[in-house]
Amino acid sequence: MKTFGVSFIVFFVTSFALGQCQNNVKITRIAGPYVLAEGPHWDYERNLLYFVDIPEQRIYCYQPTTGIITYTHLECGPVGVVVPVAERRNTFIAGCGRELVQVYWDPLTTNRNPRVEVLSRVDTGVPDTRLNDGKVDPRGRFWAGTMLIGSRQAHPPDQASLYRFAYNGTPTTMITPISLSNGLVWSHSNNSFYYIDSLAYNIVVYDFNDATGDISNKRTLLDFKKNNITGIPDGMTIDKAGNLWVAVNFGGARVIQVDPKTGRVLRSVEMPVTEVSSVAFGGRNKDILYVTSARDQLSESQLREQPLAGSVFAIHGLGVSGSPMLASRII
Ligand SMILES: *[C@@H]1O[C@H](CO)[C@@H](O)[C@H](O)[C@H]1NC(C)=O
Ligand SMILES: *[C@@H]1O[C@H](CO)[C@@H](O)[C@H](O)[C@H]1NC(C)=O
Repeated sequence: MKTFGVSFIVFFVTSFALGQCQNNVKITRIAGPYVLAEGPHWDYERNLLYFVDIPEQRIYCYQPTTGIITYTHLECGPVGVVVPVAERRNTFIAGCGRELVQVYWDPLTTNRNPRVEVLSRVDTGVPDTRLNDGKVDPRGRFWAGTMLIGSRQAHPPDQASLYRFAYNGTPTTMITPISLSNGLVWSHSNNSFYYIDSLAYNIVVYDFNDATGDISNKRTLLDFKKNNITGIPDGMTIDKAGNLWVAVNFGGARVIQVDPKTGRVLRSVEMPVTEVSSVAFGGRNKDILYVTSARDQLSESQLREQPLAGSVFAIHGLGVSGSPMLASRII
C-alpha cells in the first residue's frame, strides 16, 4: 500500500472581506498532490472526506482525526465524482467515464478491486465526453453533468449536458448543450438551483421545483468576464447563510464567496496554487472549507513555482460553516 506523508505546511493568508483584511484564515495542505483532485464530499455521519483523482480513476477517503488516506480504484474510466448512498453503509455512486456506477467499498480500507455495478449511461452518441461534477438535490436525486475529455477549451464546444438521475439511475437531460459541467448547489429554501458551465464564465440560477425536480427561468448571477475575474468558475458549495463558495480554476488561484441575492463577490481567499477545482465544508462543525486542486495542466516551470499543485487543502478560520451534504437516494 502506498503511504502518503501528511505535511502540515500552513499558509496564513489574507482574505479580503468587503475591503477589510482578515488574518486569521489558515490554509493547510492535508493530502496529495494528486493529478486532478475534484469533487470533495463531507460525510457528516462518519466524519470522513471523500474526493476523487479523476485521471487516476481513484476515489479517496481522508480521516481527519488520524490523517490516514485510503482509496479505491475503478476500472471503468476517469472518475469525475463520488457521493455516498443514504442509509447504506459502504455504498457509493460515482461517475466513471460516461457511466453512473454503484461502488461497494469500505472507505476506511484501500481496495483496488471493489465491486462495481453500472446503473446507467449518458451522452450516448457523443464522442469523447465523461461525467464530471455532481451533487444530490434536496429530494435525494443525483445530478451530474459531462464535459469533453482532455480539453480545457472544449473544441468543439457544446457537446456536453447536465443530467438528473431518477432513484433507479435513469437519466433525464436537464440542460443541453453545455461545454464543461461543473458546480451545482441548491438554495436552503429548495427553490433555487445554482449552476456553473465553466466555459460560459458565469454562475447562473434557475427556479427549482423541489417536488418535480424541474428547473426553469435561467438568470445570470455573476459574469466572470464582465467583473474582470481571472480564471473560470469550477466547483461550488453553499454556507449556512446561503452564500456560495466557488473554486476559481484555470489560473484563478482563489476561492470566492458570492452573495446570490446580489451577485456580488463578498470575499476572495487566495490559494497557494493556481488550478483550484472544488470546495466543500466539512469537519465536525462543518466550519472547515476543504479545497481540491489540480496539476495536470501545468508546465514544468509552473510546477516548480507551485509544488503543492494537485493537493487537497483545509481552510480554517473563515468564520462560516456549511450545511450537511446530502447522500444519494439512488437504489
Ligand atoms: C429543503 O430540503 C432539505 C433536504 O431535504 C430539508 O431538510 C429542508 O427542510 C428543506 N427546506 C425547506 C425550506 O423546505
Ligand atoms: C473591468 O476592466 C475594465 C478595463 O480595465 C474596466 O473598464 C471595467 O470598469 C472593469 N469592470 C469591473 C466590473 O470592474
